[in-house]
Amino acid sequence: MNLISRHFQLTAQRGAFELRRGSRLTTMPKANQVLVRMGAASLNYRDLLTLQDPSVNRDGLIPLSDGAGTVMAVGAGVTRWKAGDRVSVNFFPTWLRGAFAPSALATALGGGETDGMLSDYVVADTNSLVPIPEHLSLAEAATLPCAAVTAWHALFERGQLQPGETVLVQGTGGVALFGLQLAAAHGAKVIVTSSSEEKLARAKALGAWKTINYDLQPAWDKAAMDFTEGRGVDHILELGGPQTYDKSIAAVAPGGRIAQIGVLTGFASQPNILPLQFKNASIHGICVGSVEHFEHLNQFMSMHRIHPVIDTAFAFDDVPAAYAHLQSAGHFGKLVVNLN
Ligand SMILES: NC(=O)c1ccc[n+]([C@@H]2O[C@H](COP(=O)([O-])OP(=O)(O)OC[C@H]3O[C@@H](n4cnc5c(N)ncnc54)[C@H](OP(=O)(O)O)[C@@H]3O)[C@@H](O)[C@H]2O)c1
Repeated sequence: MNLISRHFQLTAQRGAFELRRGSRLTTMPKANQVLVRMGAASLNYRDLLTLQDPSVNRDGLIPLSDGAGTVMAVGAGVTRWKAGDRVSVNFFPTWLRGAFAPSALATALGGGETDGMLSDYVVADTNSLVPIPEHLSLAEAATLPCAAVTAWHALFERGQLQPGETVLVQGTGGVALFGLQLAAAHGAKVIVTSSSEEKLARAKALGAWKTINYDLQPAWDKAAMDFTEGRGVDHILELGGPQTYDKSIAAVAPGGRIAQIGVLTGFASQPNILPLQFKNASIHGICVGSVEHFEHLNQFMSMHRIHPVIDTAFAFDDVPAAYAHLQSAGHFGKLVVNLN
């Protein structure tokens, strides 16, 4: 089978990377591998960082960790998957279950040393795959591997979220809206912050309990304390970094949990963590998740018939426009690229 696969790849250019279109012959799956015809891929904030960061040599790397597709062929010894199965590849193909091993970092799709999903065909190890929930299209499923698994890992695997507890998510990007949808489906009360009144109205329609415009109300930690009658928030998805951290610590409830996830306002957070001691509260470091976390997420998505929020679906030719839209932060939820 001679299959030509289109892709975009990163090309080193003036201290950063540019996206360059290309194509190549698809390799066939070896033992314990499958060949996947990709239906869609999806973008994350990380993909902007990957493009802008010259400190790692990613010349020639195919970007994007997230995608979904259909198995076309299987290698020798593969019994778990067959042609026609709809699958996604886990963000860390080698983190299957249990404790995280730092060696998995280099295998992270589309950012470390391993090609990502912005390609017509992908060859993946059988153990790195998860089946796609039946109620989801390939475009919807393509949004899950990074943002949704991260929100799931933070709130359910590590956070042990309980119905009736409070959750705060920062902004209305991918991780935040999955946090909202998953927590609301579980019966939690979710506070959403955003710079946009229009986006906050949409968050309300998705099930947000309370909303705060962080531009109009920079002291959103105080608003969160008011909403919770002075108790604080049980689970906070810390997505902002330097500009949000102290407020997250101020707003977290006694015994509460801050999930350390994001760097939207930079990398060098230096929060005063002493208040956590006097609240018996914790910070959980979260780095996406394992294949097992992804499987648990998909069970929950199926049980609650949750559909990811897709802001815009771009054609393959319009990949640069998709990156530009992500950079503008005008999106609500996820951006996807259709690959068929
Ligand atoms: N640790 C991990 O495993 C992991 C996994 C996934 C993502 N992340 C990180 O998590 C963050 C979110 O990723 P994403 O892909 O969901 O991003 P995204 O979709 O690009 O979200 C962007 C949105 O973040 C909001 N935002 C920006 N600055 C903010 C601030 N100061 N306060 C509150 N909200 C702010 C804005 O929402 P409004 O327009 O509504 O204001 C913006 O539209 C990124 O830093 C990413 O690198 C980490």
